[in-house]
Amino acid sequence: MSTKVLIINYKAYKEAFSKGLDIATYAKQVSTETNVEVIVAPPFTMLSETNKIAKTIAQGVDEVDPGAFTAHITWFELKAVGVSGTLLNHSEERYAYSRGGPLDYDKIKEAVDKCKAAGLETYVCVQNTQEAEEIAKINPTGIAYEPPELIGGDISVANSKPDIVKEFCEVVKKSSSCLALIGAGIKGKEDAIKSVELGSDGLLVASGILKEENYKAVIDELVSGLSQ
Ligand code: G3P
Repeated sequence: MSTKVLIINYKAYKEAFSKGLDIATYAKQVSTETNVEVIVAPPFTMLSETNKIAKTIAQGVDEVDPGAFTAHITWFELKAVGVSGTLLNHSEERYAYSRGGPLDYDKIKEAVDKCKAAGLETYVCVQNTQEAEEIAKINPTGIAYEPPELIGGDISVANSKPDIVKEFCEVVKKSSSCLALIGAGIKGKEDAIKSVELGSDGLLVASGILKEENYKAVIDELVSGLSQ
């Protein structure tokens, strides 16, 4: 069975700071003991800390090179800190021409290409299969389908949109070598099992782990579901 991936996106939750290092420690342990690769995506300010513990990626990157770009984050900084890669184009930080507008694929390609040249992995989020088709041409490490209306809620993408998830996975696989990941509302083992059945290579999870007191139990369930 191929290795599955679980990306834990800490977002800007307060819990990132109270338990982010513990989550990273558990992520490392689980990655060592199972065939699921657990990756953490903490806030920028925590990257170097979690990177000492577990496989770490940033939550985003700008497409620019190092230089006079205040408040930007570049591939160079990520490389210098030593993290493995980055998420890109998350629904909460899209590479769009305007808020809510169409995606700027050229800009995404620029960012992905710069990261690739630096040896960084890239996981690009999309909101539908049309976007997945376009992003597959850019060939990042992974493409993650996250329907925005389900993010942060209790209804999982695997359960509520099985047909789209299946189509998304097929689209990604027929046209690229990218991993097909899904996220939004993922909470437990059944979601993980279903996602694999539908063709996914792994999950992106935020609130289901960060907001859960017994986050270890949730990680265990998800990993067990991914390993079925
Ligand atoms: O990147 C993962 C994320 O957007 C999903 O969020 O809280 O629904 O797991 P959540």
